[in-house]
Amino acid sequence: MYLHCVAMFSSRTNLYLNGLQALFALLLVIQSCAISFSTRTTNIPMNTEKLENALHAFARVPLLNGPTMIQRLTRIEEVLGAEGHGVNLFVKRDDEASLGGGGNKLRKIEFHLGAAKATSIDTVLTVGGLQSNHARLTAAACARLGLTCELFLSRSVPRNDDNYELSGNVLLDNIFGANTHIVPSGESALEAAEKRAEQLRALERQVLVIPTGGSTPLGCLGYASCALEISHQEAQQDKPFRQIIVPNGSSGTHAGLAAGFTMMGRGARSVRSFSVLADRDVTADTTLRLTQETLQLLGHPNLPVLDEIDVDGAYRGDGYGIPTNEMISAVQLMAAQEGLLIDPVYSGKAFAGLLADVRQGRYAPGDNLLFVMTGGTPGLYAYRDVFAQS
Ligand SMILES: Cc1ncc(COP(=O)(O)O)c(C=O)c1O
Repeated sequence: MYLHCVAMFSSRTNLYLNGLQALFALLLVIQSCAISFSTRTTNIPMNTEKLENALHAFARVPLLNGPTMIQRLTRIEEVLGAEGHGVNLFVKRDDEASLGGGGNKLRKIEFHLGAAKATSIDTVLTVGGLQSNHARLTAAACARLGLTCELFLSRSVPRNDDNYELSGNVLLDNIFGANTHIVPSGESALEAAEKRAEQLRALERQVLVIPTGGSTPLGCLGYASCALEISHQEAQQDKPFRQIIVPNGSSGTHAGLAAGFTMMGRGARSVRSFSVLADRDVTADTTLRLTQETLQLLGHPNLPVLDEIDVDGAYRGDGYGIPTNEMISAVQLMAAQEGLLIDPVYSGKAFAGLLADVRQGRYAPGDNLLFVMTGGTPGLYAYRDVFAQS
């Protein structure tokens, strides 16, 4: 950077003989150096040790194969051209884990099953929508660990065609050997699971019930740990990220990352999410509560306030699981330019939001942005009609 600034300065002084022009050139150079310098230093990790030590107190069943890869979206940057405003786009491949097709829920399930291991559970029950990725990955983790799995799935999306009812995650749940129960509309899936757990416990079974999306403070530790992983990768690659961007459903991914970055001294604002399930305000409140509870679990005294929780609700469209044109374009762009798959319900809408932010000039030239690819690609098969038409 120093050499770059010197080179810019000397070339400009050669060009401008007039004293006033030279002064103007010098001011430009100073401004350019200041922008570059502030971009490089705003996100330097402050305190990884404290978070590392706090996380060590929690048991974990390893389901990932180590840190997930970070890669640059060079072709999308090229396609965006001037609309990209000189921003550098990266993705963190949380979709690449080998177990069950991969996805963000594995990080949360590692902690849920870790805590339950102490009580020698033999059965796991969980809940979700019919095409729940969390349910599919819970089924896969149970298969790996030799546990019985029962899924309580509700019809949370107004769809009843064969692709949605029988393909995608529903198909995989069955292949992983889970026993699925479809919860009648109007009834609570969690209550149905709790009721079933009581029946099984009466038969001497050791049962764990994991709530929606695994998004409890314990589950959020998975993404606090991911924040740590990102900090180590930034240090190794000498690439501080200006912003980490995620989809927000049950809020555990955003909250876990926000808790992790808060504890490392970088603040919850390092994370921005796009809500796909509830509206913006409800999602921000849930994310704040979960961030605070996760920090309390980690023994961190300073809790963020609502202002520090950055949630955007503008890309959810008409509701959860209902396609938008922006989502379809984002999925197609990622596939056609990078050969990568993002899902139609979560990452597709969030990536659409990120692209809009970039195009609208929200970020400065040279900013490094990290989009977390959270998996969910089996959902593409459930949305066959949407992509076949477009
Ligand atoms: C593929 C995918 N991405 C993102 C999310 C959102 O994560 P969270 O529920 O932690 O907000 C989910 C949640 O189900 C998901 O399945």
